[in-house]
Amino acid sequence: MKFVTAFSLFLAIQSVSSLPIALQNSESEPVKKFLRLNTYKAAASSSAKRLVRRQNEDATQTLDNTDDQAYYIDLEIGSNKQKVTAQLDTGSSDFFVFGSTEANCGDASKADCSTYGKFDASSSTTFKNLTGVTLDASYGSGAGAEGYVGSDDIDLDGTIVSNVTFGVTTSADTVAPLIGVGYQSLSSMRYNNSQYKNDGFPFALADAGVINIPSYSISLMDHDETDEVNSTVTFGAYDTTRFVGSLYKMPIPHQEGKSTNRIGTILNGISITSGDSSNETLKWIAKGSQFVQLDTGSSLSNMPVDAYDYIGKTYFGSQDSSSTYHGSCDSIKNHTLYFNFLGMAYPVPLTTLTSTYNGDDSQCQFDAVPSYSGTMCILGDNFLKNVYLVVDLKNNEVALGSSVGVDNAATASPNFVEIIGSIPNAVNAPNFDSAWTYNNTDTLSLVDGLN
Ligand SMILES: *[C@@H]1O[C@H](CO)[C@@H](O)[C@H](O)[C@H]1NC(C)=O
Ligand SMILES: *[C@@H]1O[C@H](CO)[C@@H](O)[C@H](O)[C@H]1NC(C)=O
Ligand SMILES: *[C@@H]1O[C@H](CO)[C@@H](O)[C@H](O)[C@H]1NC(C)=O
Ligand SMILES: *[C@@H]1O[C@H](CO)[C@@H](O)[C@H](O)[C@H]1NC(C)=O
Ligand SMILES: *[C@@H]1O[C@H](CO)[C@@H](O)[C@H](O)[C@H]1NC(C)=O
Ligand SMILES: *[C@@H]1O[C@H](CO)[C@@H](O)[C@H](O)[C@H]1NC(C)=O
Ligand SMILES: *[C@@H]1O[C@H](CO)[C@@H](O)[C@H](O)[C@H]1NC(C)=O
Repeated sequence: MKFVTAFSLFLAIQSVSSLPIALQNSESEPVKKFLRLNTYKAAASSSAKRLVRRQNEDATQTLDNTDDQAYYIDLEIGSNKQKVTAQLDTGSSDFFVFGSTEANCGDASKADCSTYGKFDASSSTTFKNLTGVTLDASYGSGAGAEGYVGSDDIDLDGTIVSNVTFGVTTSADTVAPLIGVGYQSLSSMRYNNSQYKNDGFPFALADAGVINIPSYSISLMDHDETDEVNSTVTFGAYDTTRFVGSLYKMPIPHQEGKSTNRIGTILNGISITSGDSSNETLKWIAKGSQFVQLDTGSSLSNMPVDAYDYIGKTYFGSQDSSSTYHGSCDSIKNHTLYFNFLGMAYPVPLTTLTSTYNGDDSQCQFDAVPSYSGTMCILGDNFLKNVYLVVDLKNNEVALGSSVGVDNAATASPNFVEIIGSIPNAVNAPNFDSAWTYNNTDTLSLVDGLN
């Protein structure tokens, strides 16, 4: 009541002194808080090797991006707007760029400074050195980055965000600069011999008031086929033109000290369609429950080894001496995998997990990567092209929509839904609550009778 009274009084005063302005203000739409950036896909230079962090908690195999593709964002840093490029990475929380004193700039296989740019901290009057904080990232296979840490203003396509913390490399090895948007519990920064956690990038945007809560949505396009539509990351909102049907919410089973500190959710099964489009039948390949990471920083995707072998043998048919499955693209075209997350199944045309085999356009090779440990699987770019991914780091939830069958022309007029308290208009996946019984030793198993 108190509020209503005060507010009415305010309006009354306004109406006497400056009615036109008051009316104009109340009628104009509030400004939506979000930031959309185009990300572009480019062949990762040989230096952008991937980058799956080894952790005691869940030792995982490294997926190399070598010879493959990654998604990049252009940034302008500092008072003098130095242009640099970084790879969008949901698989880490590391944000770093190559420094002007980067020792390996001369060797593009280690640090490709001519492609990604260099940042000269000493020439930016707004750079603040966080003295004593160091960057100390290591990604297995010898890849990593070392350097110092500071903060500066960052211009993201015209939106200037002040005081963002990031690393500046002095010695990078086989990596591209990253803009990590995962949890800070993965931070590779150190202070006084301990992990240093800053406000990670999505949190920095929320702190700066650019967005409401630390959240973002990602739409990856296959630029080989659809050059006219950009891949995008939208912080603080999602775009309804980039998926079909509804968004379904799923927990990220994330709790400090327990479960995962990675962006992902629970996969309960993989099935496949057979037959022609007039009479498709769906067959289960693997079922169970396991955590899968949704990682834009990996080009390829894992699959439990027995499911991988079954699909390879049954739907590709041939395996060469280096264990690569391949087969006729024409027959592979007729099959769609469905990835079932907590009761919601998302189509993944089998061809999206393939590339041309041996330079022969009629032959497709299977590009999934078998996971032998089984317990931790990564779904990278070739999977993520098929879904619209919304991440809410405040409530520890993801929402997935299907992007198979999106009308590319419609994306030219985006329709943004601002993420305020949580992801709006997203329904809980049918088995939403079962995510919390997540056990990191659980895996998917091949269904009985298949081998
Ligand atoms: C920032 O501080 C670190 C020590 O923490 C130092 O090694 C580095 O050179 C400094 N960078 C600049 C640009 O002053
Ligand atoms: C800038 O960020 C640093 C590190 O997050 C923080 O300690 C400092 O207070 C911030 N400064 C301003 C002016 O916001
Ligand atoms: C560094 O860590 C040591 C041991 O944990 C602690 O005693 C000391 O106060 C810390 N120093 C600073 C500057 O934080
Ligand atoms: C795609 O992104 C580029 C670079 O940001 C931009 O110049 C271009 O206009 C974008 N295209 C569309 C269709 O939005
Ligand atoms: C694939 O599906 C098409 C149309 O549904 C059908 O005509 C064709 O025979 C199928 N090809 C194979 C190899 O099954
Ligand atoms: C559809 O395919 C299934 C399995 O291949 C078969 O048993 C069934 O008779 C087919 N139905 C029609 C209408 O063709
Ligand atoms: C996880 O599952 C394994 C095997 O089923 C079981 O031995 C273990 O106790 C479970 N751990 C938790 C924390 O539930």
